[in-house]
Amino acid sequence: MRAATLPALPAAAARAADFMIQPLSAQDRVFVLTGAGISAESGLPTFRGADGLWRGHHVQDVATPEAFRANPEMVWQFYSERRKRHATVSANPAHFALVELERHLGERFFLCTQNVDSLHEQAGSKRIVHMHGRLMQTRCSRETCRTKPFEDDRAYLSRAEIPTCPQCGALLRPHICWFGEVPFSMDRIFEQLRICTVLLTVGTSGVVEPAASFVRMARINRARAIYIGPEEPANRPFFDEVLLGKAGEVLPKLVKELAG
Ligand code: APR
Repeated sequence: MRAATLPALPAAAARAADFMIQPLSAQDRVFVLTGAGISAESGLPTFRGADGLWRGHHVQDVATPEAFRANPEMVWQFYSERRKRHATVSANPAHFALVELERHLGERFFLCTQNVDSLHEQAGSKRIVHMHGRLMQTRCSRETCRTKPFEDDRAYLSRAEIPTCPQCGALLRPHICWFGEVPFSMDRIFEQLRICTVLLTVGTSGVVEPAASFVRMARINRARAIYIGPEEPANRPFFDEVLLGKAGEVLPKLVKELAG
């Protein structure tokens, strides 16, 4: 995962959320990419907004392997706070709209989220991958250790509380893809990008790679690319349609139109 440098391209006009979208055909395959914006209406902060998660933190202090080696306590405190907050929130209409779309499309639907929260699962999504990992999972910090990530909602607030791996004795870490690390499930993601005919991107600023380039990859195979969010993303010129508005308001309507 890394921050993107995008070329300057002329921006096309975005549309307000009173749209008419062509319904899907029986051949269409939909790839959905979601970012922090889809969970904003549930009460989880985005990363780069005014109250964003990165506002009070230097990314390099809490979201890199080097940060964990230097100060595992600070890293665990950051993720423990997020775990506690997650326990107080619920899925919103945007998450449920994607479940509706999945029911309509079956295996022609694929959801890739950059979010580490569990709100898509809470709503009922099944065909989903978390490319940046899961907040509610923990794993061994030693790369060569084969111990699998496990479900874990506990908070670790001091160095003494951080558990060690039962297999190799190394410190356990959050199951999160940090900056400088390779996102999860990339083979499956690239295959789905290759075969999709519609790319629906929701609530992501379009500045973090590789996700920021998915729209370009999907368009190589002529997929129709639609963006939903209250503001234009940094990779806006690559989208055919930009529907400005909150995901919880726009997505339920869009799914109805797509499903015909
Ligand atoms: N509905 C839809 N989109 C929204 C809403 C909403 N209600 N509220 C905010 N947004 C949009 C913002 O306009 C912004 O474009 O969500 C986007 C959030 O952007 P970021 O904070 O940059 O989050 P994201 O793009 O998901 O970040 C990508 O970067 O920091 C890393 O690993 C982290 O997965 C994360 C990745």
